[in-house]
Amino acid sequence: MTDLDEFLASFDGEAGYLDWAAFGPLSPAVRSEVHADAELLGSGRRTGMDLVGEHVGEAREILAELLDSDAEQVVLQPSTTYGLMQALYGLAGGLMLSRAEFPSLTVTATRAADALGSIDLQWIEPADGFVTPEVVREALTDDTRALAVSLVDFRTGYRADLTALREVVGDRMLIVDAMQGFGAVSADYAAADVVCGNGYKWLRAGRGTGFAWFGERALERLAPVLSGWAGVDGDLPVDLVPQPAASAQAFSVSRPDSLAVARLASALRDVRDVGVERIDAELSERSRDVIFFADRYEVPVLTPREPERRAGIVTLAPAPQDVGPLAASLANHGITVTVRSGLIRVAPHVGTGADTLRLFGDALAAFSSARVW
Ligand SMILES: Cc1ncc(COP(=O)(O)O)c(C=O)c1O
Repeated sequence: MTDLDEFLASFDGEAGYLDWAAFGPLSPAVRSEVHADAELLGSGRRTGMDLVGEHVGEAREILAELLDSDAEQVVLQPSTTYGLMQALYGLAGGLMLSRAEFPSLTVTATRAADALGSIDLQWIEPADGFVTPEVVREALTDDTRALAVSLVDFRTGYRADLTALREVVGDRMLIVDAMQGFGAVSADYAAADVVCGNGYKWLRAGRGTGFAWFGERALERLAPVLSGWAGVDGDLPVDLVPQPAASAQAFSVSRPDSLAVARLASALRDVRDVGVERIDAELSERSRDVIFFADRYEVPVLTPREPERRAGIVTLAPAPQDVGPLAASLANHGITVTVRSGLIRVAPHVGTGADTLRLFGDALAAFSSARVW
């Protein structure tokens, strides 16, 4: 699939779905891949099972292509959090991160610091939750060894500027949770040292499709503390315990689920063929459409308006008394969003059609006409 229109048409779910930041309904290609590979895995033929296993190499190759890197530096993971655990447990020294990050970072960092005693957590608390280069510059100390940050913040939709963050952190490690942006928006991954993600949201691949990329600096500096038997070069390490691999493979525990990887490879193929830049441009239009309706009905928006600082998440911040009525109106109009902590997270994808946006506009209009000022 190389055609953008074909890609857009592959979004064949029901109208009203604006919750891609929570879960991405599986693409048709992913669904048919599952059926085909499940049959192969049920065949009892070695060739069939090997064929499914070949998706591991394919997924790593395409991930490397999208990261503009080498497949040796890519390792498959059960989820984003597993990848981040591999990275954070390997650190020593000051680790800077925002308290408002998704718990994949905050909880993992805290557990790693408690367990190892060698990590010093340097929490930052930007007022708007945006981890900007300025906020980081101000908080850096001589002891800071790494910054961990989301490419796209799960709560506000703020898209971090990796290039600028790299300039600020200098030679320190930059660890990126790319869960809410990978495959949906372009990013300067070369500025990072570690990039982790999963395919069950924006890639439409379902759960179990995580991955991690470890650049040169990361491979040099991170200890593969959580390395398992699959983290070695060569075959099954029996009767002796070899050193962890020198490549990113070291940061793995066990073999990946080939059926999950087949889903990932299939989803990645589509994204690679269409091109992330084209997807990014289209997604920017969809999130702009959401912002348009929010403005029209005077619902405050938390997400930055500049296209380069947002991605697929638009967060509405209604007055406290408006949250319930607005959420109810959205539900009554058949719109699926995430309502959490007084915020309403609206997440379209490129295939979000005019029918869904019309329902969204109708829901806001109905809310607005009943609103008591
Ligand atoms: C920014 C961010 N990171 C990580 C995760 C969790 O990822 P996983 O389930 O792949 O561990 C989420 C889930 O919503 C997220 O929004």
